[in-house]
Amino acid sequence: MRTKKKDAAIVTLIGLSFGLATVGLIAQSQSSSKFQQRMQNFHPSTVANAESSASLTSGAAEAPTGFDNVTNGFIDQATFDSDKTVFEKVETIQDGLGPTYNAQSCRECHQNVVTGGASQVAEQRAGHVASGVFYNSLGGSLIESRATNPEIVEHTAAQDEVRTFRISTNILGAGFVEAVADGTLLSIRDSQPAAMRGTALVVPILEANDQSRVGRFGWKSQHGSLQSFAADAYVNEMGITNPLFPEENTSGGRYVGYGTSYDPVPEPEDNGGDITAFSDFMRATKAPSRGPITPDVQTGDAIFNKIGCSVCHVSSIATAKAGTKINGGTLTVSAALGNKIIHPYSDFLLHNIGSGDGIPFLPTAEFASTANQIRTAPLWALRTRNRLMHDGLSLTKEDAIKRHTGQADTVRQRFNALTSAQKTSLMAFLDSL
Ligand code: HEC
Ligand code: HEC
Repeated sequence: MRTKKKDAAIVTLIGLSFGLATVGLIAQSQSSSKFQQRMQNFHPSTVANAESSASLTSGAAEAPTGFDNVTNGFIDQATFDSDKTVFEKVETIQDGLGPTYNAQSCRECHQNVVTGGASQVAEQRAGHVASGVFYNSLGGSLIESRATNPEIVEHTAAQDEVRTFRISTNILGAGFVEAVADGTLLSIRDSQPAAMRGTALVVPILEANDQSRVGRFGWKSQHGSLQSFAADAYVNEMGITNPLFPEENTSGGRYVGYGTSYDPVPEPEDNGGDITAFSDFMRATKAPSRGPITPDVQTGDAIFNKIGCSVCHVSSIATAKAGTKINGGTLTVSAALGNKIIHPYSDFLLHNIGSGDGIPFLPTAEFASTANQIRTAPLWALRTRNRLMHDGLSLTKEDAIKRHTGQADTVRQRFNALTSAQKTSLMAFLDSL
């Protein structure tokens, strides 16, 4: 059985509460044989030595911010503009679009308020549990909602009773997130009280021969590099195969790729050039800017910290120094991205706050605990989103906060105990993000 590589790619070990004592597990089922072979060569122990922690104090400067289509300096403006065009390009069947896909361009889902922002587009994921074990839907847990032919549009099967939406996330400022050293995320984890401590998922960097890194992108922190995510998105969102993901997705388990009447283009449909353009564009975006900082916003900021929201929604993180090798040595942190302070309001770690969608990283018993963990949603650019949480089903901030139980239960109770004036200030603060 062939499945979505997005699932197979989520490889893995789960960081435990101390050091890098981790459990490495290999995708056993459901991945293409090629990909499976790759995973068998994955040696997670390389993480510990790979990247050191950034010093939070050594003269780091604020990262540039703005929703303004201007490069952060990682590449020059002309290159930024042309890479942005690739991110915005509407693909056709002749370019390799489909046979199953979710949208025709990256921008279709990442656009608000400029190219690279989030959007209201949500995707469908599904599977089912039998005898306590999770099984992906026949074509993988991602159910593509469009196809190039009416006969092959994917559908959630009646038996797939575990169902969720995953809403599109923001990628503005993602280059800074990528430039955060593993050690920095692990030390954030280690500083969290035991009852609220996050999980650092270690994932392979596909372009680095699957060397390990702490995941940080996507609702499940399922990728650690932008190039890996871009390659994954190109095949899974748009159906465009590429050197890192050379095999087409199925339609509900049925092969519909090159050689069938559904797909006229041989693999790989992109030679890797588009993936590089996507990655460079994302790396060059500025971080989201803040709205006006009023006295009320400042009061709310203090309350946010005081009641413990900031344990998970971490306000300030420094990137690694320029010159640091990341992504398994395939990327050197540049001067534009290095030693910068960002305010993502996330720890990029996984938590179980009782809102989980029931879909584990991999459909194996070992990963049962990841089924209900979700990455702390970065709150930067919150004011640009009106559908909240991974499923986009919370339409107000208050509703989103109500869904915080589990590891966030104590903090939610402290929120509930605030006076209405304090709540108003907290909301003003959130509205400024
Ligand atoms: C159909 C909508 C859709 C399209 C098209 C799409 N994405 Fe996404 N993108 C999403 C969703 C939904 C998520 C969150 C997915 C998840 O974690 O399950 C996401 C997450 C991401 C992330 C992780 C950001 C973060 O930290 O959460 C990156 C990077 C990304 N997409 C890049 C791309 C690129 C590059 C393209 C074009 C090749 C693309 N996306 C096309 C919907 C889309
Ligand atoms: C234990 C960690 C933790 C704590 C503490 C916490 N959160 Fe969250 N928060 C999360 C996670 C995880 C999500 C994503 C959950 C999901 O999508 O299902 C989230 C999501 C959110 C969202 C939705 C954002 C979006 O873009 O969809 C808001 C708003 C939010 N939190 C605000 C708060 C506030 C305010 C507090 C303090 C009262 C708080 N959180 C405390 C972990 C935490």
